Amino acid sequence: MSNEKFYITTPIYYPSDKLHIGHAYCTVCADAMARYMRLRGFDVMFLTGTDEHGQKIEDKASAAGVSPKEFVDSIVEGPRGVRDLWKLMNISNDRFIRTTDDYHVAAIQKIFRKMYDNGDIYKGKYVGKYCKPCESFWTESQLVDGKCPDCGREVQDAEEEAYFFRLSKYADRIRDLLENTDFLEPRSRVHEMVNNFIEPGLEDLCVSRTSFTWGIPVDFDPGHVVYVWIDALSNYITALGYMNDKYDDMDKYWPADVHFVGKEIVRFHSIIWPAMLMSLGLPLPKKVYGHGWLLLDGGKMSKSKGNVVDPYLLAERYGVDALRFFLLREFPFGSDGNFSNEALISRINTDLANSLGNLVSRTVSMVIKYFDGRLPESYGGQEPLDQELTGAAGSLRGAYQQQMDSYSFQSALGEIFKVIARANKFIDETEPWRLAKDEANRERLARVMYDLLETIRICTVLLKPFIPDSCQKIFGQIGAGSLTSWDSAGEFGALPADTAVQKGDVIFPRVDMEQELRELEKLTSHQEENNVPPVLPEVSIDDFAKCDIRVCKVLSCENVKKSEKLLKFTLDDGSGVPRQILSGIAKYYKPEELMGKTVAAILNLPARKMMGLDSNGMLLSAVRESGGQEELRLIMLDDSIPAGSRLC
Ligand code: MSP
Repeated sequence: MSNEKFYITTPIYYPSDKLHIGHAYCTVCADAMARYMRLRGFDVMFLTGTDEHGQKIEDKASAAGVSPKEFVDSIVEGPRGVRDLWKLMNISNDRFIRTTDDYHVAAIQKIFRKMYDNGDIYKGKYVGKYCKPCESFWTESQLVDGKCPDCGREVQDAEEEAYFFRLSKYADRIRDLLENTDFLEPRSRVHEMVNNFIEPGLEDLCVSRTSFTWGIPVDFDPGHVVYVWIDALSNYITALGYMNDKYDDMDKYWPADVHFVGKEIVRFHSIIWPAMLMSLGLPLPKKVYGHGWLLLDGGKMSKSKGNVVDPYLLAERYGVDALRFFLLREFPFGSDGNFSNEALISRINTDLANSLGNLVSRTVSMVIKYFDGRLPESYGGQEPLDQELTGAAGSLRGAYQQQMDSYSFQSALGEIFKVIARANKFIDETEPWRLAKDEANRERLARVMYDLLETIRICTVLLKPFIPDSCQKIFGQIGAGSLTSWDSAGEFGALPADTAVQKGDVIFPRVDMEQELRELEKLTSHQEENNVPPVLPEVSIDDFAKCDIRVCKVLSCENVKKSEKLLKFTLDDGSGVPRQILSGIAKYYKPEELMGKTVAAILNLPARKMMGLDSNGMLLSAVRESGGQEELRLIMLDDSIPAGSRLC
């Protein structure tokens, strides 16, 4: 057993929408790696979590009519939220961080101050471009065709007083790190970073915002909130206890052994993050691995395109292990891969049902049939055929380890399935059913069965990081007992001679391709139609009763000058004093359409100023996303209801 440590992280997920299969991809890969290192005897820390601040969340929460914290709570902790998904996918993370956790918030304030005190953060003026969906600032020279270089969407002008991080100061050290070490993998990503970001010259980074409030306040200048990437990247150290008392694991686990990240966030992890750590005087992570994307029909899956694949649906239908296996076996980790239902079903059928499942069930059935479930203690000697199989199984661990150590999950599984194929062929070649016909072959038959069981056992030990629950079932069927350790997989012959097997359920049922494809088609279109957000955490009736929602009549409605979003309403709320409310619905209604209508408004919200005008309350509307578009309708009530009536 080694006592060496291994610290692995996933990106922390942005809970603006429910997670899709693309998000699950990285976490499943990190889980396989964490389980593999535990199997090897390492002391593993596996961290994942959620990145919960930023303007996008603030906007989404306001559209949903809830506070940002309520909004993120529902997606992180609510039914079928982020935590539920990781539980379902059998993710073995040791820690889960939310950037809204108090200890993280306090630590970020200290980190920001430390970089300010050491002169790496200074106050300046930000003039540039901002990509709202990516929460990224860009200089004019970084734009591609005037658009965000990451996502290709429109950017907007931004100018304000802001704090800056002296990224430029670290340019040479970062270039050296990227070019002369294997800090960033795969290697192709190094060229991308150097050519696109280092060569044009690293500019200082704007690290605070004043135009929204849903972020961690800079404690010495509270109008500013910390740029969401400074907040998010630091999770990798705050979750170990850096600048907080919640944990005390920095000495033990830092630096991280590897950060797994998607390719579009490599820039943050391989340039900004090491520069921050240099500024804080901390050691750098040993590696950042930028994996590829799961594509759908050749394009990126995204909520706004309406083409996301729901991991719940697939895991519930085919089993968690089948889905995990598919993700790890089908796609090379460093490159993009195209997701399809056909590919998923075909993997389940060929590798799991036909190759592995069949090998296990045939072998167990034969041991039951020919030996009443228990092998004898004495066998005949090995023949060349046996040696071919046992040699392959005996050397499998080495080949597998080489692939796993370079994060080549697909190839590691490829090595295992070569041996499984060899074992299936071995059955056809040795024809145990013919051996069984003659009592004189009994020892030979026992040898054949033993070789098969032991091959299955070794393969199953090495499959544990990928399909842990199924492996437990296989161990139960082949009578592996406690022989499931890494050490026991290094040599052929650990299984006791008189091993007993047990018949069990079919572990990987075959899937009817045609029928399933039709079903999936129906289910996914049904899901799209019902694309409703999760129910928010419950509130007490007393809390609900505090909301003063009234029937109002629209006395007048007009556009607000210089605003594309706002309409200004004057309402009769029954009090006799006209009430002014501004509402961001100009995209959906022309003012004249709303004159004289009976609407509902919550009256006791704090007054707000928008475009210099007072707004005293909020009109209620129904909001829904469909095909990536937001649809909004004002709640209209029966005109016979008098103004001022309370809704309850
Ligand atoms: N919050 C940031 C990460 C901060 S880490 C300090 C973020 N969050 S995210 O939710 O938008 O994305 C999380 C991860 O999911 C990213 O690594 C991203 O690449 C990955 N994926 C999102 N869609 C994906 C696919 N379709 N395929 C594979 N991974 C994808 O970025």
